[in-house]
Amino acid sequence: MRKNIVAGNWKMNLNFEEGVSLFSEIVNMVKDEVIGKQEVVVCSPFIHLNTIGKLAETVGNVAVGAQNIYQAESGAYTGEISASQVKSVGANYVILGHSERRAYFGETDAILAEKVNVTLKHSLTPIFCIGETKEERESGRFFDVIKTQLENGIFHLEAAEFAKVVLAYEPVWAIGTGLTASPEQAQEVHAFIREVVAAKYGEEVAESTTILYGGSCNPSNAQTLFSQKDIDGGLIGGASLKSRDFLEIVKVFNA
Ligand code: 13P
Repeated sequence: MRKNIVAGNWKMNLNFEEGVSLFSEIVNMVKDEVIGKQEVVVCSPFIHLNTIGKLAETVGNVAVGAQNIYQAESGAYTGEISASQVKSVGANYVILGHSERRAYFGETDAILAEKVNVTLKHSLTPIFCIGETKEERESGRFFDVIKTQLENGIFHLEAAEFAKVVLAYEPVWAIGTGLTASPEQAQEVHAFIREVVAAKYGEEVAESTTILYGGSCNPSNAQTLFSQKDIDGGLIGGASLKSRDFLEIVKVFNA
């Protein structure tokens, strides 16, 4: 049985107080309303991580993660944050390869492969994002794009290491646009991802790989998306900034 996960990606939103207060609300709601069949993760900006990581360790029902790390272990990399630093404040997850990092910060598959390695080395779970642009969807090249992102960014791992990874399919055209992929479109790609994983690592690994959907996921579409056979949860942007909306999405797995 693979794990169901609902993860919030706060992106570059919320000052310190706002973030800590939102996280406290989420923790309380999860305590009262979530039955624990699903894992709840909040990926905050670095400035919140220490405080919410400690809170997360105390309550134990919500995990926290970073949205990026630098690929080197430590050293003269002004302004960067390492995997071991993130681990040291109680985080368990790191989002890697988000399309915003690929597009705005020049993160290539080769850089991401290094980030995957250092993330796993420090016992953090990568949430590895893949997905096509609008042009790639319209030209019908999206299956190739997604396969290449997997092959070049993460398929260098041995099966035992790959088994620790969470994948997230985030079609770029659906992120922050209100244009959610239809459940059929999302399911088609998730099934394809699982096939590609099965061809590389075998059926057993593929069946136990958690594959999240991300892109304009909200309380009104989460249920139909998550009920698809190969969609195991969501990576939520905008809707994770409102505790009630985020909780409604998490609670899809209460049923
Ligand atoms: P939205 O939910 O705001 O579309 O963002 C999705 C996303 O990029 C999550 O990583």
